Amino acid sequence: MTTSTNKGLMKATAIVNSRMEFYCTAGRGTQSFVSMELKETFSENVQVKSTDGKTYFTIQNTENDLYNKLMSLKSVERIFVQCVLENFDKLDRRGLLTLLHKKLGDVVSWKKCMDTLYKVEQNLTGDEVKQTDSDTEYEPARKRTKWTFRVNCRFSGFAKKQLDNKKTSKQMGVLISKTLGWRTDLKNPRYEINIHLSDDTLSVGIPLYNKPLSERTYIKYCRLRTPIAWIMIKLLHIQYSDVILDPMCGCATILIEAAHCFKRSSYIGIDKDMSQLKLASENIDFASQHSVDISLIHGDARNISLLDNSVNHIITDAPFGQNHKVPGDLQSFYVDVLMEMYRVLQPGGRIVILTSPKLCEFLKTILKLSSELCHEGDINNSCRNDADNSDSQLKSMSHNDLDHVCDNSSVACHKQLTMLEMLYVYNVKLGETDGCICVIHKLYNHG
Ligand SMILES: C[S@@+](CC[C@H](N)C(=O)[O-])C[C@H]1O[C@@H](n2cnc3c(N)ncnc32)[C@H](O)[C@@H]1O
Repeated sequence: MTTSTNKGLMKATAIVNSRMEFYCTAGRGTQSFVSMELKETFSENVQVKSTDGKTYFTIQNTENDLYNKLMSLKSVERIFVQCVLENFDKLDRRGLLTLLHKKLGDVVSWKKCMDTLYKVEQNLTGDEVKQTDSDTEYEPARKRTKWTFRVNCRFSGFAKKQLDNKKTSKQMGVLISKTLGWRTDLKNPRYEINIHLSDDTLSVGIPLYNKPLSERTYIKYCRLRTPIAWIMIKLLHIQYSDVILDPMCGCATILIEAAHCFKRSSYIGIDKDMSQLKLASENIDFASQHSVDISLIHGDARNISLLDNSVNHIITDAPFGQNHKVPGDLQSFYVDVLMEMYRVLQPGGRIVILTSPKLCEFLKTILKLSSELCHEGDINNSCRNDADNSDSQLKSMSHNDLDHVCDNSSVACHKQLTMLEMLYVYNVKLGETDGCICVIHKLYNHG
């Protein structure tokens, strides 16, 4: 073996042994689900760290089928190959600019980033990388002018006040062009270079795919962010051949996402609004090439045309009272719907509801309150409730208030609600709106 070959191999081995660095963006409040999904997908080959609204992760270079695995992630919005990640203590304007120049002019970081991008795009395994001359594939070179790029700067906190976005983007564009020999193309670039500078972190990355992963190819109309739908579905713990109901399905975003992930189950969607059901039907037709089994029913979630204990789990994005109005007051509506859900749900089944923080507090309160009433009235010995503490709400809501929102005989209403236990609550962001995912469990009746 000649000396030059040895040198080349050593360099190639260094690349093969290194870990590939990525980061992804996801909705606020969903980071723990992103970490969980990454660990499920890549098991011991991944290391994950969530900070400054992003999830940073490194993957062993030996991972097979990397591109498809990354593209199949459901909880993330976008994935980036990481070029720079630098944490710093407070810097003034001059310090921020010096840091940007230093990091974006560093050929070694670019080379590592481009090697990762190359490997992912080519879907190569670690062994295949060894066989190719990976050293030369992505060597930054001034003559490589056919590669085009655009810089997209985002500054937050102190940096936002100190740096002019347009001017700095332009400066960084010139610097990258000089360093890598690439040409700027603001309209249709091959690479979009994302620079994010916050009070203590500089991150630079290139998106793996130009569209967000949350834009599912199999859903035509999306009314709910698909990562949120996917997280709700994960919380149901769907098993083979389960029957899943969405009693206020809208255009069926949640059911299609669920049917795409768990094909062996059956899905039922109900909505009172025919125009929503029409969209749902179109959506199902569009997704049918992915063999989804979803039935639609025109009906009222307060009077569901299904038998008692006939569904395994219930999932729904309930009206918050903003875009979708309900007759009467929202609290009475929620109690009526909850009672029907209780009736059609099998014991041991789960209800996952997306609602507003205020209505989530109400649900926590009525489930806990009815549990207390149950103990007082000794209706059922199996009452349990481990829901988050909402004592202040409880104090402000009297037993008469609960009677008021229960249309049915109050004893029967309390008895049924005591069999529903709030397990978890997750706060999430729905664009500008705050939402809560509530996970409720129907207890087995030991009475
Ligand atoms: C927040 S939207 C659901 C959005 C849905 N996740 C989607 O992807 O389109 C609430 C839905 O509840 C439906 N709805 C409201 N009251 C209802 C009721 N009493 N029975 C059935 N559906 C109802 C509305 O028509 C609306 O489609």
